[in-house]
Amino acid sequence: MPEQLKLNDGSTIPQIGLGVWQVDPDITAKVVRWGIGAGYRLIDTAEGYRNEEGVGEAIRAAGVPRSELFITSKLRNGAHQRDAALRAFDDTMQKLGVDQIDLFLIHWPVPSQDKYVEAWKTLVELQKAGRIKSVGVSNFNQDHLERIIGETGVTPVVNQIELHPRFQQRDKREFHAKHDIHIESWSPLGSGRLLADPTLEKLAKKHGRSVAQVIIRWHLQEGLVVIPKSVNQDRIAGNFDVFGFELDAGDMQTIRGMDVRDGRTGPDPATAAFLF
Ligand code: A2P
Repeated sequence: MPEQLKLNDGSTIPQIGLGVWQVDPDITAKVVRWGIGAGYRLIDTAEGYRNEEGVGEAIRAAGVPRSELFITSKLRNGAHQRDAALRAFDDTMQKLGVDQIDLFLIHWPVPSQDKYVEAWKTLVELQKAGRIKSVGVSNFNQDHLERIIGETGVTPVVNQIELHPRFQQRDKREFHAKHDIHIESWSPLGSGRLLADPTLEKLAKKHGRSVAQVIIRWHLQEGLVVIPKSVNQDRIAGNFDVFGFELDAGDMQTIRGMDVRDGRTGPDPATAAFLF
């Protein structure tokens, strides 16, 4: 069973979840039902994925108490001003059909708008009102994090950033650890690009597992929260079946050696919002 990691506000988060970025809205409800059926309790969506309604439909139909599910969504880029953020948040809640969300993130800092501090204050306000359990961010750099923490005294519980064996983001880890901010890995399988990697294939063979399972296991053993995406029922189940084996220190070291800073967002994720 997946571990629950403790967040800096006292709540907990399942260490593995189902990501639904790029899942077609028409099939999202089915995909999320498969995920919950396979054991996932954390579902990670965003306004920008256009599939929050499907997530909402699935969590109502899943037959799992709402209290056992951990739902994440994200504030869209054009809605950082307080009024717009409140409206966007209400839209998300309506689409999901929930009264309270477990985790709500600022999707991108969008420094060109310079409104992310206002967005952060609005999320904190919604948290105080009981609408959001935990507040966090995504694609933030250290200077963005320092600014929101400095101006509000509230530290995000997570920063969701692109992270996988070819883009390990080691330079960012120390700051996050110091401030007790968990890193959530998006594109944990390198958007599928890592699945034919010969080094990982060798490790997969050694453990009698799939390459995807080896990569997911690596994220877990690195202490990261991991949200692999799949629209295939068998792969969804396989990606969750990662608790019956362990990578040894040598395996972890081998994967550590794969880091070539090969990420879609590059060294400055804040500038990559155009991707979405
Ligand atoms: P599919 O949805 O058809 O399964 P990431 O989570 O890094 O964004 O990677 C998602 C990509 O990896 C998708 O293209 C997904 O395709 C593919 N994928 C996810 N899990 C597996 C798996 N176990 N085996 C092969 N491909 C996978």
